[in-house]
Amino acid sequence: MCGIVGMVGSRNAVPVLMEGLKRLEYRGYDSAGVAVFQPAGLEIRRAVGRLSELERKLAAHPLDSTLGIGHTRWATHGVASERNCHPHLGQEGRLALVHNGIIENYQELKAGLVQKGVTFSSETDTEVLAQFVADCTTEGDFVCGLRNALKQARGAYAIGMLCTDQPDTLYAARLGSPLIVGKGENGLFIASDVPAILPQVEEVIYLEDGEIARLTPDGVEVWNLAGEEVSPKWVKVEMEDTAVDSGGFETFMLKEIHEQTRVLRGLLDTYLVDENIVLPDLNMPDQQIRELERIMIVSCGTAYYAAMYGRLLIEKFTSIAVETDLGSEFRYRSPKISHGTLVATVSQSGETADTLASVKMAKEAGSPILAICNVFGSSLVRESDHLIYTHAGPEIGVASTKAFTAQLMAFVLFTLHVAEVRGDLSPDKRKELLADLQKIPTAVLRVLEGKEGIREIAEQHHDGPSSLYLGRRFNYPIALEGALKNKEISYQHAEGYAAGEMKHGPIALINDSLPVICICTETADEVDEKMISNVREVQARSGRIIAIATEGDERLADITTDIIFVPRTRESLSPLVNVVALQLLAYYAAQARGTDIDKPRNLAKSVTVE
Ligand code: G6P
Repeated sequence: MCGIVGMVGSRNAVPVLMEGLKRLEYRGYDSAGVAVFQPAGLEIRRAVGRLSELERKLAAHPLDSTLGIGHTRWATHGVASERNCHPHLGQEGRLALVHNGIIENYQELKAGLVQKGVTFSSETDTEVLAQFVADCTTEGDFVCGLRNALKQARGAYAIGMLCTDQPDTLYAARLGSPLIVGKGENGLFIASDVPAILPQVEEVIYLEDGEIARLTPDGVEVWNLAGEEVSPKWVKVEMEDTAVDSGGFETFMLKEIHEQTRVLRGLLDTYLVDENIVLPDLNMPDQQIRELERIMIVSCGTAYYAAMYGRLLIEKFTSIAVETDLGSEFRYRSPKISHGTLVATVSQSGETADTLASVKMAKEAGSPILAICNVFGSSLVRESDHLIYTHAGPEIGVASTKAFTAQLMAFVLFTLHVAEVRGDLSPDKRKELLADLQKIPTAVLRVLEGKEGIREIAEQHHDGPSSLYLGRRFNYPIALEGALKNKEISYQHAEGYAAGEMKHGPIALINDSLPVICICTETADEVDEKMISNVREVQARSGRIIAIATEGDERLADITTDIIFVPRTRESLSPLVNVVALQLLAYYAAQARGTDIDKPRNLAKSVTVE
């Protein structure tokens, strides 16, 4: 979603801003712009579409300044057009502002400004904020006026701002949307995330909600919303700069799908020490684990399907009750967070607005917070008491792959740890599970080696308007995730369903042109037969069946020839393997349909608005 970058320094800021915006591209955007300070006034360049459009404009009319801000916009209020692009100006160019988030009361603020004769050139809430800040800062102390304006803005924001009358000064503020301040040899910076300015900075400040920062060549001053000056906490940057290279693969997504063997192996190497599960950032004493009665897992998107898997695992192997919620629903359903409840969250970015808002609500209700997260220093990490890092490395493809399988693995390790502490799992059973877990990375590799076969199947079935994904129990969340992957990158409508529910509706859709992807890897109990019966129900209605089946299982031979065989694993671990087959199926369908796989239309990687 929207990305912000800004610089006040000793060299031309424009190339740094453009490099920063490139590094923020993965978040998803539809237009971009930059503003720089010039003694004669603020200069702006904005363009719709990819950053190359903005580069073209900059090449035609170059800018040179040591002070500037840049933005990638993901449209919320008003279409993707040049006039809706950021930066937006306030008071005929006295200030320029970029914004990530949504100002919910912008209509109200706008009405007041219109009464004062202010006119607007865009449909955005951001232009209203720019004009409102300008209006509140015409006289008196600037920071005081800015704070006054921000106090009246309802919603979420991260902003970067320049003013004509304040050379060498860059303002930043946040509430609910992420923003960092960085320093390095070439100056001071602001950005939505660390990777955006990684080559430039050695240390960063993670601004807290409600903070305002002023960056000048003399340093950084930070105030809270109450107006008190706070001393900024500089944190050394220890991130490796690996994000920018697709490593010889045609897309980042394909690279990331292939990285899963290594990521899963790495997680086992990190967290499994001599057969003991060691989760160094969990920070949860055994007594607390023993007293847990209920876990509520809150997440969004792909992470929600990881949470559904987590629930199945925890309930199967421990005596704890588990609920799952979407962040956008949890907040508004009056959840009863009683003593003995742990609120757990799963998030790749650690910045998803609805997940974060749910965490804040749960904290206010007194619940401890566990985060399963991939990004060090993210807002979610900073809000949480207990952590499991997924160590998947930066994920650039918008559709999540390696971050998802890492989340599944984190749930397996957490479950086994909790089950052991509570005495819910016999030592023999635990040993068996750990032995099977160790085989998962190799099983994933085998699926990857079979990718040509998956490509052939995808090429036969990518056409039609829709597809249906069926699974049961542990593979029901995987059916949902498979359908989501397909929707996200191939733009084909897809629905995931619990196979047993098929006869309550979706069966009406089945005909000889609907691909039905059936996850029927063996489960060694009655669910196995029930799944095969569901597949036969599809067959009886001439559905085009694509099956994910266990190597050596011949039961589907008379049903379909389109079978993706995967190595045998125990059912509770099979999602880690089966999902890789579905990622590849979606990938090759998308390729056949000619979509922009790494940056699918309308999607954002980091969803920082509600
Ligand atoms: C967006 C991304 C998804 C992701 C979801 C939740 O929709 O495109 O890939 O699953 O947000 O994001 P999170 O960072 O919280 O896992």
